[in-house]
Formats: sequence, structure tokens, C-alpha cells
Amino acid sequence: MSPKTAPKTARLFMTDRYAVFGNPIAHSKSPRIHALFARQAAQDMAYEAILTPLDGFGRAVRDFAAAGGRGANVTVPFKEEACRLATELTPRARAAGAVNTLGFDGGAIRGDNTDGAGLVRDMLANLGVTIAGRRILIVGAGGAARGVVLPLLEQNPTAIFIANRTAEKAVRLAATFGVAGGGFEVLAENAFDIVINATSVGLTATPLPLPAGVFAPGALAYEMVYGRETPFMTQARLAGCSLEKVADGLGMLVEQAAAAFFFWRGVWPDTGPVLAELRAELPAEMQTGMQQT
Ligand code: ATR
Repeated sequence: MSPKTAPKTARLFMTDRYAVFGNPIAHSKSPRIHALFARQAAQDMAYEAILTPLDGFGRAVRDFAAAGGRGANVTVPFKEEACRLATELTPRARAAGAVNTLGFDGGAIRGDNTDGAGLVRDMLANLGVTIAGRRILIVGAGGAARGVVLPLLEQNPTAIFIANRTAEKAVRLAATFGVAGGGFEVLAENAFDIVINATSVGLTATPLPLPAGVFAPGALAYEMVYGRETPFMTQARLAGCSLEKVADGLGMLVEQAAAAFFFWRGVWPDTGPVLAELRAELPAEMQTGMQQT
């Protein structure tokens, strides 16, 4: 093969490039997860983490796409900006007002949000919890909460209530989806089968003002943060939730990645072994109970 024709021929066999854009990004598990998926599904792809300047998201993504990038994940704090950057949105991305997955297709930038689907799949497939016919409490009314409402609603729960420190935000978010919302004071009279912590307090030591009665007997307590016992998880245990009904967000992380992988490649990876591998690397107290896979 002459050097002249080499680039054209090589292009056909070039490894497909993906990346996650965020700031900070050093601790992202996404490169690891997608490398495991790619190996398992025999997909010729590379996946890197790109530390993105706070004022340079659009440019970084466009540069990556122009250099042949096929798709990307987007994390804090760029998910809303990614939603505005996309030229096409899936219905769930539009409902979330945020995008965590981009696909580059010619000039088009396709945007999806797989966070809610990841949460739902973790509950159904990994934790064996039924959502249909259940009463769900979402605590928090920020971006993380907004991203999961529609996929949860699609599972036909009996009710979804959104509770937030700033009550008006919960009322506003709830109204968008035709569900109920308000401040924490309303919770005194109500019990729920599934309680999801979608606030950012999981990253701190602050407990939420949740009455013990919000956890119905047998309730699932789901913390979106992963890798550590948060005050919310401790609260749930003290309120009587059994060990296997207190979950952290590691399963959601792996399942949202699987849905992104499907969005790009049209192949569903087997998440069980990947979740087990990541779980095994967490501190000992996070090893048991939460995930059955
Ligand atoms: P994210 O994108 O992670 O959802 P966000 O949009 O900033 O981040 O939302 C953070 C959520 O955590 C909000 O619901 C916030 O409540 P307020 O709307 O009242 O600010 C909630 N939150 C943060 N710190 C909290 C605390 N100490 N107690 C209760 N809720 C808290």
C-alpha cells in the first residue's frame, strides 16, 4: 500500500472515539465502564475523560466531533448546556431539560438523557423492585430530580410526590409533570414505597428533615450518590428499611452508561458483571445488601 492511499483506507478501520465532558472529571468511572462494555460487546471504540473549561463546553464538544468523535457523555455542570447544544432531542431529554448523552451524526448533534432510564432499570432489573402501583417520593427538585420524573411516571406508579427544601421549586417541577409537590412539612402524614434522594446533600454530612414514617413497611430507600454510606441511607436504616432495601446509586451509574452505549452502538451490554466489578472495589461497608447482581 502506498503512503498516498493509506489515510483513506485506514479511515475505514479507525477506532470510534467517545468521551465524557465534565468539570471536575478526574474521578469519573465512565471511561472504565465503557471500556468494560466495549470489550464485552466486541466494539472497536475508545473512551476518554476530557476536563472541560467552565466557559468552553460548546467549543470542546464541537472540536471533538470535528476531529471524528462519534459521541459523548456529559456530566456536572454541563448537562443543561448540552441540552441547548443538541440539534435533536429525545422526548426524555426534552422532559429532563438536560442531556447526558450526545451522538454526532454528520452535522447533527443528537441529545438523550439516560439517567432516569438508568434509575428505573436498576430498580427493576438489579434490585427487583416493582414501580407500577407504588407510591414514590422524590426528595429534591434540582436537575437530578427533574431527570428521573418522566421515566418513573412511564412505569405507572400510583403517585409521585416531589418534596424540596424550597417548596416553590417542588411545586413548579411537579406541575410540569402533572404530579404533586411541596415542602417537607407535608411528609409528616404520608408513607411511601419508594423514597429517592435526588438532593445534593448525599455529598455532605447533612441529614434531611425526613420523618421516619415516610418509609412504608418494606420501602426501598434509593440514594443517587454512590460509593459511601450517606446520612439519608443511615436515616432509612434507622427508620426500619432492611439492608437490601437501602440502595446507593452505583447501579444507576452503570445502567445509565449501558443506555448511552445502546444509544451509540445499538447493543445492550450485560451490566451485571460490570456492576459487580465496580462494587467489589468500594469500601467493605458498601459491598453488601444494595445490589444483587
Ligand atoms: P442537582 O443538579 O444535583 O439536582 P441542583 O439543581 O443544584 O443540583 O439541586 C440541588 C438539590 O438539592 C435541590 O433540590 C436543593 O434544594 P433547594 O432547591 O431548596 O436548594 C437540594 N439541597 C441542597 N442542599 C440541601 C440541604 N442542605 N437540605 C435540603 N435540600 C438540599
